[in-house]
Amino acid sequence: MSKTSPIVLILGAGPNIGQSVTRAFKEKGYRVALASRRAEEAESTSDEIYIPSDFSDSGAIVNIFSKVKALLGIPSVVVYNASAVTFTPPDDPLSLSLADFDQHLKINTVSPFVAAQQAATGFAELPDTASRTFIYTGNLLNTVTVPKFFDLGVGKSATAQIIEYAATAYKDRGFKFYYGDERNADGSPMYTGLSGEAHAKLYVELAEGKTQGPWQQTFVNGVGYKHFPVA
Ligand SMILES: NC(=O)c1ccc[n+]([C@@H]2O[C@H](COP(=O)([O-])OP(=O)(O)OC[C@H]3O[C@@H](n4cnc5c(N)ncnc54)[C@H](OP(=O)(O)O)[C@@H]3O)[C@@H](O)[C@H]2O)c1
Repeated sequence: MSKTSPIVLILGAGPNIGQSVTRAFKEKGYRVALASRRAEEAESTSDEIYIPSDFSDSGAIVNIFSKVKALLGIPSVVVYNASAVTFTPPDDPLSLSLADFDQHLKINTVSPFVAAQQAATGFAELPDTASRTFIYTGNLLNTVTVPKFFDLGVGKSATAQIIEYAATAYKDRGFKFYYGDERNADGSPMYTGLSGEAHAKLYVELAEGKTQGPWQQTFVNGVGYKHFPVA
């Protein structure tokens, strides 16, 4: 693969969404950088690098971007896919320990903020022809509360705001920011059974899009983007 091929960085690259998104971007000619706690650095090649990292330390995100820039170059597409939750009793969300709340806020919001910041800094150095797309994998918790999902809901809501602010602020510079949210066909949440393939298809389309679309990308497997009224 050419050293001028575009680069996608996937933060939280696991067996489902991460793997499908990786495959789809490779098919489009991208070189890939994959970060997660269990990433095997030794498996890295000249076109595909693995970076072991724990996003509960938000400083780790800066190190990942530095490493990707040094080894491959500046990523024109960045996907943040990791998340964390501790299920809390529906009648006592405030029983969550501060340690868990703090750690999960880092994974769900603070590290995505640092990743968006790093991505935008890189996008500013790329030519106008580069994709310059940041995608955060979300769910419907930015629009409703669901008992038990307290800390995840706080994190997804805050990050949805980050994405919306960034999508609005940077669109004239050609940078795109998206919040991906796969739904069932009736708009109800997909607690399980997410389609890695459907995420991959949408994320490639968003990366290839020339201008910012709706920042909140609710979508359905086999359909693509679908607007759902807020419940
Ligand atoms: N739309 C919906 O209704 C809905 C429903 C469920 C989930 N989701 C979202 O989908 C995303 C996950 O999808 P998936 O499980 O299919 O993805 P995946 O790509 O299969 O896995 C995500 C990977 O993130 C990595 N990760 C988790 N915590 C991390 C941390 N602290 N630091 C670094 N890496 C970490 C894990 O790898 P390591 O173990 O190697 O770190 C994990 O394998 C999440 O954002 C989740 O909130 C959405």
